Amino acid sequence: MENLNTLAGEVRRCALCELSRTRTNAVPGEGPANAEIMFIGEGPGFNEDKQGRPFVGAAGQFLNELLQIAGFKREEVYITNVVKCRPPGNRDPLPEEIQACARYLDRQIELINPRVIVTLGRFSMARWFPNEKISAVHGRAKRAGGRVVVAMFHPAAALHQQSLRATVEEDFRKLRQIVAEAQRKPEEKPAEKPASDQAEQLSLF
Ligand code: URA
Ligand code: SF4
Repeated sequence: MENLNTLAGEVRRCALCELSRTRTNAVPGEGPANAEIMFIGEGPGFNEDKQGRPFVGAAGQFLNELLQIAGFKREEVYITNVVKCRPPGNRDPLPEEIQACARYLDRQIELINPRVIVTLGRFSMARWFPNEKISAVHGRAKRAGGRVVVAMFHPAAALHQQSLRATVEEDFRKLRQIVAEAQRKPEEKPAEKPASDQAEQLSLF
């Protein structure tokens, strides 16, 4: 039966898109196979490419702080990216690269089966919040296919734009409650809120 390790081996040998030509190491992702929360970033940067591990550079340091704010240990969450190989010069991943790499992300989601998916930045957000702007939906949760998906700004965005930092920290502070809600059994879930309360409904279902 397929597991995360065999999948990671496949990713490390993958040559399905052009990013395989310029990478040093592919970065499959890391964390426990039974993680309840999965964080999905954009793609490896310089340090990640060198080490073969996700979020180990400056953005990773900040993600570690954000996880602490949210009350999670890094070792208990799964962390990966939309594309597993570094785009040269940290350029945006191309649509065809995202599409080629989606087979791995799909299988990771299936294998880990997390209750909560946290998207970091617009590339992972686009999959569950199509046509939405991150400035409008950041910090919000929605139900999708039996999971809860929360859209967050990318930690690197907050590093480059100081004014975002407090916003990102505030969003992560709310993550704890969102996860607690998602962990309740269905019969314990609060009743549907009226449609007039839609914004509220999005942020806490
Ligand atoms: N930025 C990302 O999106 N992913 C990483 O792994 C590191 C930085
Ligand atoms: Fe394969 Fe994804 Fe790397 Fe492209 S980015 S070579 S699809 S692992």
